[in-house]
Amino acid sequence: MEDLFDYSGRTVFVAGGTSGINFAIAESFARAGASVAVLSRRPDKVKTAVDRLGEYGITALGFAADVRDFDAVDSALTTTQAELGELDVVISGAAGNFPAPADSMSPRAFAAVVDIDLKGTYNVLRAAHPHLRKPGAAVINISAPQATVPMSFQAHACAAKAGVDMVTKVCALEWGPAGIRVNAIVPGPIADTEGMSRLAPTPELAGAVADSVPLGRYGTTDDISACALWLASPHASYINGAIIPVDGGWSLGGAAVLTRGAP
Ligand code: HXC
Ligand code: NAP
Repeated sequence: MEDLFDYSGRTVFVAGGTSGINFAIAESFARAGASVAVLSRRPDKVKTAVDRLGEYGITALGFAADVRDFDAVDSALTTTQAELGELDVVISGAAGNFPAPADSMSPRAFAAVVDIDLKGTYNVLRAAHPHLRKPGAAVINISAPQATVPMSFQAHACAAKAGVDMVTKVCALEWGPAGIRVNAIVPGPIADTEGMSRLAPTPELAGAVADSVPLGRYGTTDDISACALWLASPHASYINGAIIPVDGGWSLGGAAVLTRGAP
C-alpha cells in the first residue's frame, strides 16, 4: 500500500504511536517516506518505536509523555515542528481500556479512560493546531465502535470515544476554512492488539467476535494503515468531519457481541 503514496518531505505526528494500531500507522507513513514523531508514556516503548521507524531511512523523533499532561504534549509538538517542519499529518490514538461494570468501577477508573481518550485527544489537537500546515494538514483521530454501539462494561470507553467523534466533527467545522481536514477512523476488532486481548481475552469470545463481523474475520493493522495513508492524502481532499469505520461491517450490529464479555 505504501508504494501508492509518497509522503517524502512530509511530517507526521502520532500520539500513542509506539504500539499496536498506532505504531502500524506510524510505520506505514515512515515506509512512504515521511518524517515521523511518536509520543507515549513509556520511554522504553518510545525508544524501540523510534529505532524501528529509523530503519526505514527516515528521520524519527520520540517523546515520552502522557497525553493527560497538556504542557508535555505542547512541548512535544513544538519540538516536532522546530526539528521536522510544519505538521502535515497528526494522528491522535492514545487510549486506555479495560472491561469494568458501571455499578462498581471506581470513579477514578472511569476518569482515567475519559482523561486519556477524550481529554487527551483534545490536548493533542489543541497543541497541534498552531503547528499544522495551513492549508493542507490532515488530522485523524482514532475512535472505536464504542462511540456508537453501547457495550456492557464499557461505560468509560463508550462515553470517551463518543466524545472523540464529536471533537472530530466540531474541529472539522472550525478548522475546515483554514484548509485543515479533521476525520476519524473507527477500527473494528483488530488482530494481535492490546485492545482486543483485553476485551476478548478467551478463544471462545474471540471466535464469537470474528463470527459477528459480516466479513467473518478480525481486521489487521494494515487495514487501518491503508485507510490512514489514503485519508491523509490529496485523494481524500474533500473528506472532512467523517467518521470512517474500517471494521468489516462490525458496527452495523455485530459489535454488540462484546456485551457478552465479562470483566
Ligand atoms: C477496574 C481498573 C482496571 C481494571 C485500572 N483500573 N484497571 N478498574 N478494572 N481492569 C482503575 C484503577 O484501580 C484506578 O482506580 C484507575 O483505574 C486508574 O488506574 P491506574 O493504573 O492508576 O491508571 P493509569 O496508570 O493511568 O493507566 C491507565 C489504564 C491502563 C487505562 C488504567 O490500563 C493503561 O495504561 N492502558 C493503556 C493500554 C490500553 O489500555 N490499550 C488498549 C487500548 S484499546 P482506583 O480507584 O483504584 O485508583 C481501546 C479500545 C479497543 O481503547 C476497542 C476494541 C473494540
Ligand atoms: P495499544 O497498543 O495499547 O496502543 C495504545 C497506545 O497509546 C500505546 O502506544 C500506549 O503507549 C499509548 N498510551 C496509552 N495511554 C497513554 C497516555 N496516557 N499518554 C500517552 N500515550 C498513551 O492499543 P491498540 O489496541 O493498538 O489501540 C490503539 C487505538 O485503536 C486506540 O485509540 C484504541 O481505542 C483504538 N481501537 C483499537 C481497537 C482494537 O481492536 N485494538 C478497536 C477499535 C479502536 P504507552 O503505554 O507507552 O503510553
